[in-house]
Amino acid sequence: MSDLSKDRDFYTRAVHAGERAPRPDFTPVVTPIYPSVGYLYDDMDDLDAIFAGAREGYVYTRYGSPTVTAFETAVADLEEGETALAFASGMAAIHAAAIALGLRAGASALVAQDVYGASYALFNRLLATQGVDVHFVDMADLGAVEEACAAYSPRLLFCETISNPLLKVADVAALARLAHDCGAALVVDNTFATPYLCRPLSLGADVVIHSATKYIGGHGDALGGVVVTSSERRHTMYEVLKITGANLGPHEAWLLMRGLKTLPLRMARHCANALQVADGLARMGGVVRVIYPGRHDHPGHRLATRLFGGRGYGGMVAFELRDADQEEVFRFFEALQLCLPATTLGDVYTLVLYPAHSSHRALSEAARAEIGIGRGLVRMSVGIEAVEDILADVKQALDTILYA
Ligand SMILES: Cc1ncc(COP(=O)(O)O)c(C=O)c1O
Repeated sequence: MSDLSKDRDFYTRAVHAGERAPRPDFTPVVTPIYPSVGYLYDDMDDLDAIFAGAREGYVYTRYGSPTVTAFETAVADLEEGETALAFASGMAAIHAAAIALGLRAGASALVAQDVYGASYALFNRLLATQGVDVHFVDMADLGAVEEACAAYSPRLLFCETISNPLLKVADVAALARLAHDCGAALVVDNTFATPYLCRPLSLGADVVIHSATKYIGGHGDALGGVVVTSSERRHTMYEVLKITGANLGPHEAWLLMRGLKTLPLRMARHCANALQVADGLARMGGVVRVIYPGRHDHPGHRLATRLFGGRGYGGMVAFELRDADQEEVFRFFEALQLCLPATTLGDVYTLVLYPAHSSHRALSEAARAEIGIGRGLVRMSVGIEAVEDILADVKQALDTILYA
């Protein structure tokens, strides 16, 4: 088909020339980006068999793409899961997992109190208005989780390994036992910890989710999500994906897969930098509270040490500015010269965010206060720059607001 003779019209050649080279006898070292939406087979029966699910293959990008498969295979491998399914965003992944696990009218879900704001809204607004019985619970309080399991017989428990933004650490193995005892599945959002620190499936979780936009990609240039689970569960989620079309694009898959290759290098550096930043912040005037699982004063410190096997405590630090409100936090952000006040995390750059006006805006002020997100709380995603430069920048910005 690529063998176009010169006697074809210029218009025809413009469309087909150079395409569909004969099958190569070489293998590219790096998986190519396959932007093709459609796929050709010599025999139409093959296409039919793939549509019927009788054999593997590609027919249409909403049904799968070789570049996306390569990314899914890589994440499943690092998470020690059977298989993975990629999505256009972390939220699309959480939504598909919830639907595929049977969250529909009448079913109930138990959700950690301080999950990421959009996850909170997904359960509390979208799914609850569709008749799902949603209950929020402090997942660090295993007694409360056990009681809620007995009271509501949930279909799933949803938590984050390290929560956003309060950095609570989930006892994944204990939560898996409680979930299974009441017939529920444990779904863990492992975005903050990444498989470098923790592999929840090996601790009994049933489904692991990532906003791949964050540490998996690591460079702030691609949005994506991924679910890692058993082949059986993947099949149900795949049916949801084929219908809803929240697919990861091949270009994004390629970028995320490139980022993934340096995940352990980046995570080791994020963890080392974050510990020093947390300790440095604790010594600075103007900071009243520092939250970091690597510090001995963190309530989940021992659990985190056990769970993360001494590899570190993650790259996220939260801290509270003294007597600060939105006004003071905004002045602090404007005074920063290196750290970027951008609404994301997990990048090579150091980023700061004000949860009350961004990630947790979906919560009412009362709901934020109840879970501990105060008006002066800042979330920092510590990057891989020289830690001295990060600390110097924070110090000069604090001095600016303190002495302004
Ligand atoms: C812990 C966590 N889970 C899920 C998400 C949602 O991911 P995405 O923005 O890729 O949809 C985020 C986004 O910040 C997050 O922090």
